Amino acid sequence: SISDLNILQKAAMDSLGIPLIYGKDVIHGFKTTMPVPLAQAATWDYDIIKKCCSVMAQEASNTIHWTFAPMMDICHDPRWGRIVEGPGEDPYLGAMYARASISGIQGEDMSQPGKIAACAKHFIGYGNAEGGRDYNRTEISDYLLYNLYLPTFRAAIECNVATVMSSFNDINSEPVACSRHYLREILKEKEGFEGFVIADWGSIDRVRKFGVAEDNKHAAELCMNAGLDMDMVTDYYNLYGEKLVAEGKLSMDTIDDAVRRILKIKKDLSLFEKPYFNEEVQNAARPESREIALNAAVNSIILLENKNNILPLSKDEPVAVVGPMANEKRSVLGTWIVREHADDAVSLVEGIEKCIGKDSVFSSTIPALDYIYQLEHNADVVIAALGEGNYSEGECSCLTNVAIPDYQVDICKEAWHKGKHVVAVIFSGRPMILTELVPYCDAILYAWHPGIESGEAVAKLLFGDAVPSGKLPVTFPRAQGQIPLYYNTTNACTYAHEYYGVDLAQSGMPNYWDCPGSPLYPFGYGMSYTTFEYGDINIENDSISLSELDEGKKLKISVDVTNTGEYDASEIVQCYVCDLKSSLLRPVRELKGFEKRYIKKGETVSIILELGMKELGFYNKDLKFTVEPGEFMIYVGKDSLTTNKVSVYVKK
Ligand code: BGC
Repeated sequence: SISDLNILQKAAMDSLGIPLIYGKDVIHGFKTTMPVPLAQAATWDYDIIKKCCSVMAQEASNTIHWTFAPMMDICHDPRWGRIVEGPGEDPYLGAMYARASISGIQGEDMSQPGKIAACAKHFIGYGNAEGGRDYNRTEISDYLLYNLYLPTFRAAIECNVATVMSSFNDINSEPVACSRHYLREILKEKEGFEGFVIADWGSIDRVRKFGVAEDNKHAAELCMNAGLDMDMVTDYYNLYGEKLVAEGKLSMDTIDDAVRRILKIKKDLSLFEKPYFNEEVQNAARPESREIALNAAVNSIILLENKNNILPLSKDEPVAVVGPMANEKRSVLGTWIVREHADDAVSLVEGIEKCIGKDSVFSSTIPALDYIYQLEHNADVVIAALGEGNYSEGECSCLTNVAIPDYQVDICKEAWHKGKHVVAVIFSGRPMILTELVPYCDAILYAWHPGIESGEAVAKLLFGDAVPSGKLPVTFPRAQGQIPLYYNTTNACTYAHEYYGVDLAQSGMPNYWDCPGSPLYPFGYGMSYTTFEYGDINIENDSISLSELDEGKKLKISVDVTNTGEYDASEIVQCYVCDLKSSLLRPVRELKGFEKRYIKKGETVSIILELGMKELGFYNKDLKFTVEPGEFMIYVGKDSLTTNKVSVYVKK
């Protein structure tokens, strides 16, 4: 309880006068559970993410000083249960997520009321776990480290993240928790991180278990020297620190550096002046926080299919709501919730009833398939609430099979064969394989685990009170065997875009004989109830010189986007870059800019994007950030497979 925390704090203040710092995993909400982080990333919306994180910090700020969030791990493997906790597969979108969430949690000044310290985790490469098995080994080249895995952490450091958590994994057989190379040389010296590094749960002990330390004392020595400033759980620093100094294995300078970093953060939080929580004030959940959760959920949900524009549904026709998630209130909150506040989510049935009235909703507690067999309702539309529970996502919750289960496909199949219109709403914390389901659905809304306002958010979209605008932050494969499948891959030596985009099975040279190479839904994909037409890409100049780039000049790109449909709606305009001639292979496409814009029906807006040094360069073989002269292809469109392109030159 808060008073217990204050008692411990008083003991600390009375003895050394140095306040304790309390940290906890408050990941996507404290009292008001927001959409899971992957869903927040699907909004592609800085303000929404920032607001979600602000509410979370405000509600938690009278119980903790520090949250172990945001998770910055880029991941290419939906089998990994923790994909739900991060921003997805792309470092550019991930960097935006880092900036938005950290500014929401910490604000400009962490000592202000309602703000707490953030923790960028898990440094580094944890999302690369081989086979999608949590905690597993990783092999990461320096090239990928610098170009794919570091950018999110770099963004976190740029906005002064207070702390960084080291990761559990090893990279190329070196455990990160005791790696001077990753923690001291790269994170602190090269990237300039000035806060402190906290171990992940029991990591120092795992260094011993990995076999690289002889015993606990040796593990403490390796980790402390590597730059792991604060222990989590093991107590080995306390137990062995003094001895290690006496034996000359640990220097006072190393200890001073760690202590100085920790004290700096305590000072930045004003803990010396304000060490105690206010026991009188409880930061209650405010109604406006639920509004923020609702808006975030609405913006995060993705429309994957909408055959014959079946959605939005009419509010005047009855619907049947079936399936395992129809009345679910716990799963829809997702993983890592603060348990004390887990009971007040809105289920899908409740959300729909609120939207169209109780009398228009048929639902039953009997198994969905039986209900459809019996068909004791007149509804022409069957809404199938499907997906996975919170237990199959998150830490140590990996799956070998990420396909939508057969019994859930059967629910849609049966309703389809009975001549119903079938709308699937899928609740999940990862990309699931939906290939078997698609033929039996008129529409699919991918709702992720949307948090406390789950049912209400989905209902708003189903019945047209809002228009879907979310875009995928991860690729949806067609088949398990395609994993890992991600958009920012490099060319293979024969065919461009071999594994992504081009369906080579149709051109006679398949990658797989039993499946096209392309994804079911690409990165950046998401439909709307309206339609957007993109004009050609205009560029001010079709070339720019290296010296101009050096001086900070940028390529200015503009595209007209027209809302040609029937609804006012937001579109996320995406800009991808491909460096066609370079010393090392560059990705076939890389997201380097985007803008989310609300466009009224019939309206045309001009979207202006700029590409400079940062967007055109990469870390080369010498790990030097560089722009190499030559041709670049610039793409602007609605997703990562857009063919709207223009070529530009970077001159020497
Ligand atoms: C997780 C971290 C978490 C920590 C503390 C670990 O097992 O990997 O993400 O912050 O536990 O709960």
